[in-house]
Amino acid sequence: MSDRKKITLPTLYEKYERGEPITMLTCYDYPTGYLQEEAGVEMILVGDSLGMTVLGYESTLPVTMDDMIRHSQAVRRGAPTAWLIGDMPYMSYQPSVETAIRSAGRFMAEASCDAVKLEGGREMADRVTGIVAAGIPCMGHLGLTPQSASSLGGFKVQGRDAARAARIVEDAKILEQAGAHSILLEMVPDRVCQWITERANIPIISLGSGPRANGQLLIFHDMFGLYPRFKPKMAKVYGNAGEVILNGLKQYVEEVQNRSFPQREHWFTIKDEEYNDLVERLEERDHLDH
Ligand code: KIV
Repeated sequence: MSDRKKITLPTLYEKYERGEPITMLTCYDYPTGYLQEEAGVEMILVGDSLGMTVLGYESTLPVTMDDMIRHSQAVRRGAPTAWLIGDMPYMSYQPSVETAIRSAGRFMAEASCDAVKLEGGREMADRVTGIVAAGIPCMGHLGLTPQSASSLGGFKVQGRDAARAARIVEDAKILEQAGAHSILLEMVPDRVCQWITERANIPIISLGSGPRANGQLLIFHDMFGLYPRFKPKMAKVYGNAGEVILNGLKQYVEEVQNRSFPQREHWFTIKDEEYNDLVERLEERDHLDH
């Protein structure tokens, strides 16, 4: 286990003040949480993208609070010192401020998260304020907000025309004033992201929004070739784990079929005297039964 000190809000803000880039990744399970902790990832998002990457849905919309809590708990067990953010799933905060506070509270109480994230700008500002007033740090999320993909016209870059870009810039200010501790900008043009970053007083994290933000986020499954349906342009592939696993699986199927697996080191034995005793006992029992 890593000997890193717990990442806290002051730790993150100190890094931000020093102008050092903040690292952030999505994560959905214990072993990956363990690896991300070992690698020194600072902010971990248990994203509702798990609906697509792990549960195989077509979108994030079917993901429930119970799904999110179960996966957040697993990640926390693997990554005890990371700044762990629970992503509020569809309809866990949209209905009302009270619903939002209750859902955010579950992430903190049941999964030991450090913060939550929700999607949306000015229309969600009162949810952010309510959550923060309840003592729960909250990250905003602007640009491509997957839970609203239907009204945004699909999974595409947001803020490419001046009017829409201006709205994102205004929304970022509104979320900051509402109390957000950081904002994720997903698939926003680089200069729009830079504009927001230079004027914000909280960390701005980029997902496909360019290098000028205070930190970067990638989706873990995109980084390692683990999502078979598509690879977004913004994702850098750091290794093809999907290919490594597939080759291993094919080899396993072949080895079981041609009996080259298992080999001597893959099974357990019983001492001769114990086995002979066993045979004797069983034969005696058989004899008594007949
Ligand atoms: O659910 C998620 O992983 C997210 C990212 C797309 C930022 O919200």
